[in-house]
Amino acid sequence: MSRIFSGIQPSGELHIGNYLGAVKNWVALQEQYESYFCIVDYHAITVPYDPEELRARRREMVVSLLAAGIDPSMATLFIQSMVPEHTELAWIFNTVTPLGELERQTQFKDKASRQESVPAGLLNYPVLQAADILLYRADMVPVGEDQVQHLELSREIARRWNARFGDGYFAEPQAKLTPSRRILGLDGNAKMSKSMGNTVGLLEEPASIWEKLRPAVTDPARVRRTDPGTPEVCNIYHLHRAISPPDVVALVETQCRTAGWGCIDCKKVLFDHMNAELTPIRARAAEVRAHPERVEQVVNDGAATARRLAGETMREVKDRMGLA
Ligand code: AMP
Ligand code: TRP
Repeated sequence: MSRIFSGIQPSGELHIGNYLGAVKNWVALQEQYESYFCIVDYHAITVPYDPEELRARRREMVVSLLAAGIDPSMATLFIQSMVPEHTELAWIFNTVTPLGELERQTQFKDKASRQESVPAGLLNYPVLQAADILLYRADMVPVGEDQVQHLELSREIARRWNARFGDGYFAEPQAKLTPSRRILGLDGNAKMSKSMGNTVGLLEEPASIWEKLRPAVTDPARVRRTDPGTPEVCNIYHLHRAISPPDVVALVETQCRTAGWGCIDCKKVLFDHMNAELTPIRARAAEVRAHPERVEQVVNDGAATARRLAGETMREVKDRMGLA
């Protein structure tokens, strides 16, 4: 069975961009692949953070992932900082990673430009990511489009290590994207992300979602209710494509082009389909929260399973490198 690995930072609430771009795919893939899903807290500390908040967000991320449908009887769900092999392999990979490749990463340039003092950990972030994936010798990595460049670098790192020590030991991991690989925020402009304040939370209450959805940006050329619209340039249409069933998407398209519906009508339909998807997830989150001891068990079992495979890889790696 092929193996998949993916990670998510505990740096805020899980939003529908994460969900539609990646996590929903994890839930689908866990049935067919040996799956490792990791909450990457060592990645999250490469930007300024508060320790108590990190603890709370990590817990919240476990709840959200379980609520979204990650099933611990099929997949291994675990916390990165409970498996020390991640940082151990990252150090080793630092010795084969070209500095220039790290400096070229768009996410690094973007995050570095927003900080006064740039820690080396921010530059080396993708090296840790490569270690995450290769520690489990995963073939496939279900992620959103923003991670494609990091995945290319992971393959480069695998190739360089293999060339020097491994002779094909590490497989070159491939990104696995969904059709909703890049969800825009409700501003219709930037990628949906916590730092942009343009998200819909996976566990957000309907009233609060509607408050954000009602004023959300649509086709800017559609000024009056009677103006026909162009679905392709409207973010609400793209959200329909990510969430609503195909017959509804087709209807949205005609109603928009003919001005049969106004934008508010269209948003109401989207809201209904969002609720259909999110209501059961919120209900599961409440169930999960009611059993904190089960959550702890999941995380402990996950770390134990992860460490078995991670330990095996590290023994091989160190042996091939002449390390103790
Ligand atoms: P992060 O929250 O940055 O750790 O991202 C977790 C996963 O969600 C990664 O696979 C990202 O590629 C994916 N992701 C984050 N934001 C979006 C978005 N706006 N659209 C699609 N996928 C996303
Ligand atoms: N960098 C990823 C993100 O921001 C998170 C991540 C860390 C990851 N390690 C990973 C994703 C390994 C996939 C595989 O979304």
